Formats: sequence, structure tokens, C-alpha cells
Amino acid sequence: MAVLITGGAGYIGSHTCVELLDAGFEVVILDNFINSKPEAIERIREITGKEVKTYTADLLNMEKVNQVFEENDIESVIHFAGLKAVGESVYYPLRYYHNNITGTLVLCEVMKAHNVKRLVFSSSATVYGMPDRVPISEDFPTAALNPYGRTKLMIEEILKDLYNSDQEWSIALLRYFNPIGAHKSGLIGEDPNGIPNNLMPYITQVAIGKLRELNVFGNQYSTKDGTGVRDYIHVVDLAKGHLRALEKVSTSSGVEAYNLGTGKGYSVLEMVSAFEKASREKIPYQIVEPRPGDAAICYSNPLKAREQLGWVAEKDIDQMCEDSWRWQKSNPNGYKNMQKDNLHLLKNGDFFMKK
Ligand code: NAD
Ligand code: UFG
Repeated sequence: MAVLITGGAGYIGSHTCVELLDAGFEVVILDNFINSKPEAIERIREITGKEVKTYTADLLNMEKVNQVFEENDIESVIHFAGLKAVGESVYYPLRYYHNNITGTLVLCEVMKAHNVKRLVFSSSATVYGMPDRVPISEDFPTAALNPYGRTKLMIEEILKDLYNSDQEWSIALLRYFNPIGAHKSGLIGEDPNGIPNNLMPYITQVAIGKLRELNVFGNQYSTKDGTGVRDYIHVVDLAKGHLRALEKVSTSSGVEAYNLGTGKGYSVLEMVSAFEKASREKIPYQIVEPRPGDAAICYSNPLKAREQLGWVAEKDIDQMCEDSWRWQKSNPNGYKNMQKDNLHLLKNGDFFMKK
């Protein structure tokens, strides 16, 4: 019996694969590498000592997704695959709706055809829009501020309808807060394309000298120091949350949303200080205009996940910064593009690594 991980080569997916393999699960990855590199799979193997069967496939290709279910004994799915850049989603809404929503529809159709009804879905704290108070609980009103956020909200609704139509489904909607950090080995981590949108990869690229200084988006918010406050969570803690969610969907049916966060908020300037302490590097910064659409404060109430999944985040902000820095230092240019020579390419587009 295997767990299918869509988007398993990505940032959160790769860390979750490591935790699953370490816990003895059989894992099958499906990824089209639109925002990741095959080398991540090789690194997963290096960390765990285990091979991972990987399909280079697009979720939009129903025939191919079906083939993955035909060839493997899949019992549950963790669905990470999706596009996630907020700004890009405003310019290319159709691409986002098609990839994220149609991709999920194809996946669920194929799951249904194979009688696989256990699903853990990557949602996001973005579904809370501009929260009017904190900490945020799962029963807060939802809203979307951009097409990316709308895909998450729509998918949550689709999955609720799916459960309402057939109560054999068991679905966990995991609403992540702000994942940062990397595996302690420094072998896997976040590898953004181009100039990072998010705070931590931006800071690490300033530290390594790839970017000159950090732009702090506003210092006039009603927060402790005027800069935006977020709930940063170590990606390994987040990955572990998926194992707890998998246990949950394997032992009960229903559709439930869970916040995965620490319940603590840190400001941008606190993150800069924490990173400077962990890395002993100076992070020059300038204050610039606020970024449109940014909430002032966003942090979770993580109680439901503690009570119903038995999960709590354990790693603190210092560990998050240390691990982000180790990854950046060891991989200044992120993952390499795998040389064709290192890959056995099969006619159907699949590949596996040469040792
Ligand atoms: P990521 O981009 O690193 O990983 C996503 C993976 O999905 C990539 O490997 C990409 O190649 C793959 N993919 C995308 N579209 C695909 C398709 N049609 N078919 C097959 N593979 C496809 O992103 P991540 O940070 O690991 O995020 C994983 C999930 O969590 C996403 O759904 C994202 O929206 C959600 N999320 C992320 C964050 C965050 O801050 N990183 C916060 C909240 C929610
Ligand atoms: N920030 C800066 N400078 C930067 C980048 C960010 O000051 O260069 C600030 C932002 O204004 C915000 C904080 O740092 O106050 C965190 O910003 P991120 O872009 O890292 O994270 P967001 O909370 O804005 O968004 C992230 C994901 C979204 C997701 C959301 C909620 O990028 O996809 O968390 O989960 F929807």
C-alpha cells in the first residue's frame, strides 16, 4: 500500500516525503517539475536511503494520472501539486484556475474510479483573507483576495461537496501558515525561481550576497514595531502534521479543516534579528511602501490540530532561521538542473536517476 504525493518534489512535498519514508510508508511521487527539480528526488533518496518511485506527469493529464493508480496500490493521497505565486495569479488567473482546480478535479475523478477516498489537501491561511482578529480559528469567516487564494477556497468547497455526495470520503484541509526552514541535513529546502516573493528566502539571498538589501513592506501597521506579523512554522513540523492528518483520514470519514501554525506571531524586523543571530550575517534593509493586499497580523489558533490530530509544532524561530541558512549556504544556487547524463529517460517521459 502506498501514499501518492502530488507535487512531492516541491518544497513542502519533499520534506513530507522524507518524514513518510522515515516512518516506513511506501511513497509514490507525481510531479511535472514546473516549479521544482528532479534533483530534489535524488536528495530525498540520499537522506532516507530509500528509492522513491516518481512519475513525471501533469495532473491535468487524466490518462497519465490513471496509469499511476493502475500501476500502484495507492491507499491515500497527499495533494500538494499547485501553482502558488500570489502576484503571478493576478496576471494569469486562467492558468491558476486551470492548474489548481482542474488538476484537483482530475485527481478526485481518478481517485473515485479507483475507490481511493482518503485525501489530505494543501490549503492555506490565505483563505482567511484579511482577518479582523487573531489568533485565527478554523471557524473564522473565509475570503479570497486574489485568484490563488480563490483556487484554495474553491477547492475546499469542491471537496466539501464531494464528501456531502459520498460519506465514504475522508478529507483533511490543511491550512498552512508561513512555512520556512529546511531539513537539518541541508540537502532539501525552498528553491524559488527568480527573485523570491516571500520573506525568508529573500532574507537568505541577501545574506548570501545574491540580493543587496531587504525591502520591508511598511512599518506603520498596528503591530509591535509597525511591520507585518506572521505565524512562521518550520517545514519539518509542517511535514509531520501531514502524517498526523494521514492517520486521521485513515481512521475516520468526514471533511475537516485544520490550521497548521505555531500560534505565535513574529514581525518582519523580529525575523531579521532572529536570522542575524542564527547566521551571524548582517541583513541590510530599507522600509518601503506596504505591499497591496498584505494583512497586518496573521497567526493561528492551532488548538484544533492539537486536539484532533495530536499535532503541535515543536521547532522555534531560532531553529527555523538556522536551518534556512544551512540550506542556503550549502546550496547557494538551489538545486542544480540535473544533467541529462544523470538521468535514464524513458520514452513516456518518466525518468529515474543513475546512481
Ligand atoms: P512548490 O511549488 O515547491 O511545490 C508544488 C509542486 O507541485 C512543485 O513541485 C510543482 O512542480 C508541482 N506541480 C504544480 N502543478 C502541477 C501539475 N499540474 N501537475 C503536477 N505537478 C504540479 O510549493 P510548496 O511551497 O511546496 O507548496 C505546496 C502546496 O502548499 C501548494 O499547493 C501551495 O499552494 C500550498 N501552500 C504553500 C505555502 C507556502 O508558503 N509555501 C503556504 C500555504 C499553502
Ligand atoms: N515581507 C517584506 N519583504 C519581503 C517579503 C515579505 O517585508 O520582501 C513581509 C510581508 O509584508 C509580510 C511578511 O513579510 O508582512 C511575510 O510575507 P511573505 O510573503 O513571506 O508571506 P505572506 O504571509 O504574505 O504569504 C504567505 C504565502 C501565501 C499564503 C500566505 C498565507 O506566500 O501564498 O502566506 O498562508 F497565502
